[in-house]
Amino acid sequence: MKILLISDDKRARDRITAALGEQAVEHEITVVDTRTLQKPDELAAVPADLMVIEGLGREAAPWAALERIVARCPQLPIVVATSQQSAELLQLAMRSGVREVVNIDEASLRDVMQRMLARIAAANGHAAGKIIAFIPAKFSCGATFLATSLGYSLSKRSGKRVLLIDLNMEGGDAALFVSDKEPETTLADVCRQIQRLDASFLAACTVTPYPGFSVLAAPGDPESALLVKPEHLSAILHVAVNNYDYVILDVDRVMGGVSIHALDAANIIFVVIQAVLPYLRDARRLLKIFSGLGYSQEKNRFVVNRHDKVADISVEDIEKSLEVKISHVIPNSYRNVISSVNQGVPLAVLVPNDPVVHGIEAIADTFCNKPAESRSWINRMFNK
Ligand SMILES: Nc1ncnc2c1ncn2[C@@H]1O[C@H](COP(=O)(O)OP(=O)(O)OP(=O)(O)O)[C@@H](O)[C@H]1O
Ligand SMILES: [Mg+2]
Repeated sequence: MKILLISDDKRARDRITAALGEQAVEHEITVVDTRTLQKPDELAAVPADLMVIEGLGREAAPWAALERIVARCPQLPIVVATSQQSAELLQLAMRSGVREVVNIDEASLRDVMQRMLARIAAANGHAAGKIIAFIPAKFSCGATFLATSLGYSLSKRSGKRVLLIDLNMEGGDAALFVSDKEPETTLADVCRQIQRLDASFLAACTVTPYPGFSVLAAPGDPESALLVKPEHLSAILHVAVNNYDYVILDVDRVMGGVSIHALDAANIIFVVIQAVLPYLRDARRLLKIFSGLGYSQEKNRFVVNRHDKVADISVEDIEKSLEVKISHVIPNSYRNVISSVNQGVPLAVLVPNDPVVHGIEAIADTFCNKPAESRSWINRMFNK
């Protein structure tokens, strides 16, 4: 990974490099001084996947330069590191569009850098796995059913390793959609012993109901759910993307820190909707949140679930009303889906010819043949 470090202070640079720990050698770090911020041509000559800036104070010009960079490429990951997190500085950062302002202490730096690097690794399709998030526009849209069904079909059709992480903090039951056994360990157990986290510990905490398809279950109770912090998810994703080909996140519709982290980290977000007015209203609200979070339109896919061809609201109506393209339509199959969910057996195993299965396999096939995009952010920013 190429990290562009903009700083005038050698000690600060050392601290930032130290925060990468043993991983520092895996990255190519280029250091330039803060004046370079105002020389876009010089900046463009430095290839980078992540920009870390240290030493910005109250002076307006560097912030204005930063604002121009953010405006041209809102997805460029930028971290501002500072020793003085004043309200004024946070305001300047917010105005320039930078979302990550971090204290220049090693723990905070390590957390933010790991999170950013995991996200970039996934986006660049390095050895790392692709992160696919599912979120219901409104409760009970079918997000968990589709996420688990996709997990099964994707592993089966691609022959690759898929990990589904259930991030529903209360009452998450994704594991039981594909297995009839209560999971013995959950996401909360991984968080409880986060210092033990590596590929084998993560695998040991999952259930693997079918070869190539594992599930890390949601915390079983509200108390355990409180253990799960965004920084845990960063660390888990960092390990997951390097050990699984696809990581599917079943994201909680309640927009807390963990949900936002999950959506941030995802390469693709499937928003599951149904052709019913209240669902569409909530989908619109969700889209507003996505736009506030700076997600590009390419990141989102919209799935209409339980579609009925003779419904009052057509797919075209939904597209017009939300101003988005619907990428997949999954029919309603009440009896078969309910049997699948009740038995904890994927529908593709239970009723392979159900039209819902064909719809899910069509989603899986969009991943099987497409290589991930691998251009760096900075190149995109300068249209290279
Ligand atoms: N295509 C479908 N056809 C028929 N029934 C479906 C379909 N998809 C989902 N369902 C039903 O809808 C119910 C709710 O689905 P699911 O739990 O996946 O929704 P969700 O969006 O994850 O909800 P939550 O907000 O609780 O997380 C399931 O129990 C399932 O029976
Ligand atoms: Mg769910």
